[in-house]
Amino acid sequence: MSELYCKAETMELRRKHIGPSCKVFFAKDPIKIVRAQGQYMYDENGEKYLDCINNVAHVGHSHPDVIKAAVKQMELLNTNSRFLHDNLVQYAKRLTATLPEKLSICYFVNSGSEANDLALRLARQYHGHQDVITLDHAYHGHVSSLIDISPYKFNQLGTEGKKEFVHVAPSPDIYRGKYREDHPDPASAYADDVKKIIEEAEKNGRKIAAFIAESMQSCGGQIIPPAGYFQKVAEYVHKAGGIFIADEVQVGFGRVGKHFWGFQLQGKDFVPDIVTMGKPIGNGHPMSCVVTTREIAEAFGASGLEYFNTFGGNPVSCAIGLAVLDVIEKEDLQGNAIQVGNYLTELLNKQQEKHPLIGDVRGIGLFVGVDLVKDQQKRTPATAEAQHIIYKLKEQRILLSADGPHRNILKFKPPMCFTMEDAKLVVDQIDELLTALEEATGARTGNGKSSTSQHKRKMTNEGNSQSDCISESISHINGTACRQNNGLYTDNRAVPCKRIRT
Ligand SMILES: Cc1ncc(COP(=O)(O)O)c(C=O)c1O
Repeated sequence: MSELYCKAETMELRRKHIGPSCKVFFAKDPIKIVRAQGQYMYDENGEKYLDCINNVAHVGHSHPDVIKAAVKQMELLNTNSRFLHDNLVQYAKRLTATLPEKLSICYFVNSGSEANDLALRLARQYHGHQDVITLDHAYHGHVSSLIDISPYKFNQLGTEGKKEFVHVAPSPDIYRGKYREDHPDPASAYADDVKKIIEEAEKNGRKIAAFIAESMQSCGGQIIPPAGYFQKVAEYVHKAGGIFIADEVQVGFGRVGKHFWGFQLQGKDFVPDIVTMGKPIGNGHPMSCVVTTREIAEAFGASGLEYFNTFGGNPVSCAIGLAVLDVIEKEDLQGNAIQVGNYLTELLNKQQEKHPLIGDVRGIGLFVGVDLVKDQQKRTPATAEAQHIIYKLKEQRILLSADGPHRNILKFKPPMCFTMEDAKLVVDQIDELLTALEEATGARTGNGKSSTSQHKRKMTNEGNSQSDCISESISHINGTACRQNNGLYTDNRAVPCKRIRT
């Protein structure tokens, strides 16, 4: 038995010894997971949960090949990268082979935050500039340097939150953003906003070190930038002496199906200067990576400072990273992401025709978002409804999350072994819940889908729609929805008023 304590004792010890800002999912009735396999997690009573949210367990929870690789290497040796070891160079060779040629230099680190922090150092060292352009609602990590460039976090600190060297560009969201699907060229319009930010900053004597963005914004609400946006932004940022950092911590490693990396959705003519990786890279083992060009790496080295990282790139982590790459290939998980992702999106699109609560369905591969709205025309976020759905799904032993600035977007980012049957099961449950909700709230069912979002979407060069990040938000921003009594889930134990992320 993997339980040391009963659930109540575990909760009590957690309250006693773990920092109060470390949150759990479903705070008033948290789930205690004791084992997991593939796309399933099991609680202390043996109850099986379908996992639609854990993109860290990329190739499936407890994958035997990954475990074997880890054990085999741990039995032999684990040490730091100051000793020569073949795993390090072999992994760097395999990983960079998935990227465009100029991205050939790796720095191995231990978390997504460490990767983004190092990326900022590289960018600042490159031309000696300091300022950073980030997207609205972005999250890039928990260390101080990244809270500074994460509006998702610093906005919660009030007006003091944003530092002078940080510039926030609008999120390229064509459903809710400044330029929408009916705009003739949203990519250029959003990129022009970045250009204006650069011009304004320069007028004030500031210099841009970097533009950082997730290749598809996840916490920000499952946003896929319109095709051509990154190319134009990169042009303006380069002209200003800055570099382009693509944060692939959430969305990399084949999740989008057709490509290994999310930024590749923008087209072959776009290559970032730095790519940061994390979460899925080690299938749960804490490791991550920064990949950049030789030129940027040499500029970083020119400072004369050694870069040393005690755990980054150790033989065990590299063995695990290699095993993850092998499994993605061997089990054709990119193919599965295309097939199952398309099926899931298709099922959800059918739901959109039926349910007025669904404003938009966007997805690429196994990165899918369902934007719930109270009003199709106004696109008013249906925050409480989204929370209701995820709590009810939990009762059905399905783990899904809701995120985005309004916490109204149902996010799918399951392990890549997710199946068609899994997709059907979740969508059938969502259908039932939406029907019940619409009946209870008197919303009209069976109306047409939101024509604007469905028919004019032109998200990527593949003409596909979009995706997400990582926070597993289980609640919502203001307390009002907790007290609603309009057919929503009103169990006062069930809807906490703070969100959390993995
Ligand atoms: C897009 C993105 N970048 C970076 C991070 C930070 O990664 P970590 O939590 O491994 O430090 C996260 C974590 O949620 C993330 O979503």
